[in-house]
Amino acid sequence: MRNDSNLAINGGPKTKTTPYGVAKRFGESELQQLREALEQNTLFYGMGTQVKQACEKMKAYTGQPYVVPCSSGSAAVHLGLIACGIGPGDEVIVTPNTDSGSVIGIIEEGAVPVFCDCAENLQPTAASVAARITSHTRAVVVVHLAGYPAPMDEIDALCRARGIGVVEDCAQSWGTRLNGRLVGTWGTAGAYSTNDFKHISTGDGGFVALADETLYRRVSNYSDKHYDRLFTGEQRQAHHGMNYRMSELQGAVALAQLDKVDAITSRHHAIGLQLEEKLKGLRGARMISGLPGSYSSYWWSALLTDPAHLDGTRDELVKALQAEGINLSSYGGYDLIQRALFRDRIVRPWLEEPRNRYPFVQPDGRKYTYDYTQTPNHKRLIETAITISLGVGYTDQDVNETAAGIHKVFNAFYRS
Ligand SMILES: Cc1ncc(COP(=O)(O)O)c(C=O)c1O
Repeated sequence: MRNDSNLAINGGPKTKTTPYGVAKRFGESELQQLREALEQNTLFYGMGTQVKQACEKMKAYTGQPYVVPCSSGSAAVHLGLIACGIGPGDEVIVTPNTDSGSVIGIIEEGAVPVFCDCAENLQPTAASVAARITSHTRAVVVVHLAGYPAPMDEIDALCRARGIGVVEDCAQSWGTRLNGRLVGTWGTAGAYSTNDFKHISTGDGGFVALADETLYRRVSNYSDKHYDRLFTGEQRQAHHGMNYRMSELQGAVALAQLDKVDAITSRHHAIGLQLEEKLKGLRGARMISGLPGSYSSYWWSALLTDPAHLDGTRDELVKALQAEGINLSSYGGYDLIQRALFRDRIVRPWLEEPRNRYPFVQPDGRKYTYDYTQTPNHKRLIETAITISLGVGYTDQDVNETAAGIHKVFNAFYRS
């Protein structure tokens, strides 16, 4: 019964009485690298060695022959789209349950984001991508959300057959594998973020990993105001580009953090598996599961609730779970469709109509609107799912108490 007096929300004892473990992220190795960076007497990547070494480490990590450093994950996705050759008026397919960093580059290029649905595991599918392909589709941004892999073999085959580029957004999926292969290595480009809310942090930063040398050169030049600096050494800006450069300070921290990435992602993996095991048999909900053959780095996870068997709304459950001291929240923050940008289709409110709506209003008369018609699974998830936070510092006790609190609340709210 939801009015069970044993529930913390009704005055009963809390399940989680100790704070969740928090790991120390930075230490001597970061300090050592930062010292080296400062002693170079330059913090510019073109003259220092920290960023270059970090790129070498990223090449070894991803197994890709080319890596471009950049200032953020959003920049990395944008650069990936430059590799795909998107331009004004092109359509780019992407799931709506993501950070705006997955779509900023699309809009910046005058291309149009087109939302495809996600499956119950939060990832796109080949069928959901295929359903949104038109004659204007030029690329797909595949977001591997929460550390779970999207079905890359199928999506890659679908896109290759049609000459559609693929950017794999791995911002939340460091260390994630599918059938032993690291995500980010199927598509035209793999985009990574090292902002402070990712498995590894440089404060802000990102990388793009590529297999093609010509695209590497294009992306590298675009990331640095189109100086051809790394290739001919010419100090001239030939064409358009952004300043997406990574500084030596970020490169220094990246070098130290990349040494830790495997330990961090495998700890997340172990915590995720432990929780999955302990939540088996949960009544009224289930934890999302990865595709067969997946190795998830569980950046976070989610519970899919079954409203038909629950005496209360998802948000009431979340309140009861939070009262138990459990680190979770309503899933719903990851919904680009609700953002004013897509809801009202005002891109640059400081411009007048209709220029403020570009690229949602195209010069050839195409007009784009956004609602949930094409993404029913996504809609259901934002209404019913619950996000579980997972931290690399979580102890076994944290995992046990998280599972115990979830069982306690769902048992109380369950109705057969
Ligand atoms: C899935 C996803 N893509 C892209 C980004 C953008 O990364 P950044 O904040 O480094 O620009 C984020 C960041 O939150 C993200 O979670």
